[in-house]
Amino acid sequence: MVINKFCTDNFKNLKEVEITPHKGFNLFLGDNAQGKTNLLENIFILTGCKSFRTHKERDFPRFGENLFETSLVFENSEREQSIEYVFSKEGKIQRNIKLNGVKTESRLQLFEQFKCIVFTPEDTELVTGQPNIRRLFIDYAVAQLKPSYNTTIVRFNNILKARNEILKKIDNPLLLEVYDTELVKYGIKIYEYRRKYIDILKPVVCELYSKITNDKEKLNIFYAPNVTAENYECKLKNNISNDLRVGFTTTGVNRDELGITINGKSAKDFASSGQRKSVALVLKLAVSKIFGEKCGETPVILLDDVMAELDKNRCDLIYETVKDCQCFITACKEVEADKVFCVKNGVAAVFKN
Ligand SMILES: Nc1ncnc2c1ncn2[C@@H]1O[C@H](COP(=O)(O)OP(=O)(O)OP(=O)(O)O)[C@@H](O)[C@H]1O
Ligand SMILES: [Mg+2]
Repeated sequence: MVINKFCTDNFKNLKEVEITPHKGFNLFLGDNAQGKTNLLENIFILTGCKSFRTHKERDFPRFGENLFETSLVFENSEREQSIEYVFSKEGKIQRNIKLNGVKTESRLQLFEQFKCIVFTPEDTELVTGQPNIRRLFIDYAVAQLKPSYNTTIVRFNNILKARNEILKKIDNPLLLEVYDTELVKYGIKIYEYRRKYIDILKPVVCELYSKITNDKEKLNIFYAPNVTAENYECKLKNNISNDLRVGFTTTGVNRDELGITINGKSAKDFASSGQRKSVALVLKLAVSKIFGEKCGETPVILLDDVMAELDKNRCDLIYETVKDCQCFITACKEVEADKVFCVKNGVAAVFKN
């Protein structure tokens, strides 16, 4: 998948940007606070996902403005497609989204068509953060292969939320039965998808990590499910009195974990900062590799400030792994690239072809 053209205006500090990227490696080069990450963020929201930054949508239009407009022409192996996205916060929030010229209400349609993998320095949270960050990572990767998985996750989360609300209010376990049947039904689906995906992910991640460390370090990832398909219902029932006591659901796929070790030691507790960054990067690159293999189409890769802090071997592996993908990378110093855009004060101009 490649972006042929990208335009934006008034997204954060970006001003009348119009770029025609290279099919290979594109560099957004510039000093701090010029709009490099904003460019990646802008491209990423066109996948229909929430921003990878925690910023609220309301904060997207330039300070003092109510509206931003952005568009993209991209191409997969089958055809060229277009996305137009106009966001307004004048009064209530409104989005006017068009896919191939046709208005769509659902951002899921963008997600189904336009595929990006983004890596940012904050992704080290995948190693050090709470388990929900790793669950989200796996769920996002599964959903890229199977967009309908999103619906399963949304249904599960809605039932979980309703169950938790009931748990806070009542002390009669019988009232939970109707929720529990549905929770187990969707929970088992999630368990199966996560298990299968992690089985595929594991060898890819281990191989990539061996490569970047010249076989000196051994990375391992493993699924640590809180329940299995066989024991889900039973464990949920057995924990009801505990759930009623604490006021939320303490059992289920909502408590799953993705374990990560380096040389047998917990990465969360012992990894160095370079190791954390490498693990996070390898996880993201592995997802992109798997997507490419399963779908016969590589996602667009967005790498924010990735080269800083990594040694040459690690940087070389990045180039090697993404060589078949279109890639956008931000940096303050020049790195090897097919096309360089100089980003200054919200404007991106071609610097080198
Ligand atoms: N809604 C907004 N309107 C105008 N400017 C904004 C808005 N939101 C953020 N900015 C500004 O955009 C500028 C550029 O941000 P960005 O994160 O893209 O910088 P960057 O080029 O990636 O810098 P760095 O190299 O430090 O990562 C920042 O100064 C930020 O304050
Ligand atoms: Mg930045």
